[in-house]
Amino acid sequence: MAASIKKKDGGPGTPAESGEAIQIEGLHKSFGDLEVLKGIDLSVKRGEVVCVIGPSGSGKSTLLRCVNLLEEPTSGKVSVAGTEVTDPDVDIDRVRRGIGMVFQAFNLFPHLTVLENLGIAQRRVLGRDKELAERTARHNLERVGLTDKEDAYPAKLSGGQQQRVAIARALSMEPELMLFDEPTSALDPELVGDVLAVMRKLAKEGMTMLVVTHEMSFAREVADRVVFMDEGVIVEQGTPDRVVGDPQHPRTRSFLARVLDPAAAQLPE
Ligand SMILES: Nc1ncnc2c1ncn2[C@@H]1O[C@H](COP(=O)(O)OP(=O)(O)OP(=O)(O)O)[C@@H](O)[C@H]1O
Ligand SMILES: [Mg+2]
Repeated sequence: MAASIKKKDGGPGTPAESGEAIQIEGLHKSFGDLEVLKGIDLSVKRGEVVCVIGPSGSGKSTLLRCVNLLEEPTSGKVSVAGTEVTDPDVDIDRVRRGIGMVFQAFNLFPHLTVLENLGIAQRRVLGRDKELAERTARHNLERVGLTDKEDAYPAKLSGGQQQRVAIARALSMEPELMLFDEPTSALDPELVGDVLAVMRKLAKEGMTMLVVTHEMSFAREVADRVVFMDEGVIVEQGTPDRVVGDPQHPRTRSFLARVLDPAAAQLPE
């Protein structure tokens, strides 16, 4: 296929012809006897923001990790920007370069300053020189509102600031799409808003985003589509108003009731 980026091609890949940033078909993933993903079909268009919600253990992180092959699917097909990442001949490093990933843990290097944290992968992976890496880093620190922190070490920053550094680091690689796995769930409540504001801005700028989140107000406001997962399947998906505002499936309803009113979930049945 012309749009593939494969080792055997050697040269740069051609842009995808389809509008799909991510296409997942019949994705299954098992860990030993435990089947975690039981046949997922999902596509994300360029520029689309899709939020994935669902109970703990439903397979949300595993789904995200199958997109950039941090987990190898047991069966099924995953394509990113027209390149099939499940093709055994794919140049996965090259595909991963186009995917920004932000996790719950920020994973910044403690012994490097913010500017150095943003520069290291640009220099090692993209082969950029110091000057270009620093210029790109400063541009992205500005995007996340942290221009004044470039010389700080991570330990001197709040959790919310560290997560915004992690986002700026991902953006410095100029990804085509971003995967977020509960980027605010390790943060103190008062720090969540700044991180969500950065993500909201990215969405407005047209970034393609697949976001696992428990922030229902963010999902309602920013997502083009909300996907509800439970026990390894997509139970329902649609506009936020439909899925969060007027869920059709009883499993979605009971999940949302628990998320929107956690205290109620602790009451005995
Ligand atoms: N590397 C692994 N080895 C074995 N089991 C795993 C592995 N990774 C995940 N699992 C199991 O797969 C299931 C789904 O995990 P996953 O992390 O995808 O869920 P999740 O929906 O992201 O949950 P949470 O909301 O708690 O983050 C869980 O039962 C988990 O224990
Ligand atoms: Mg998870």
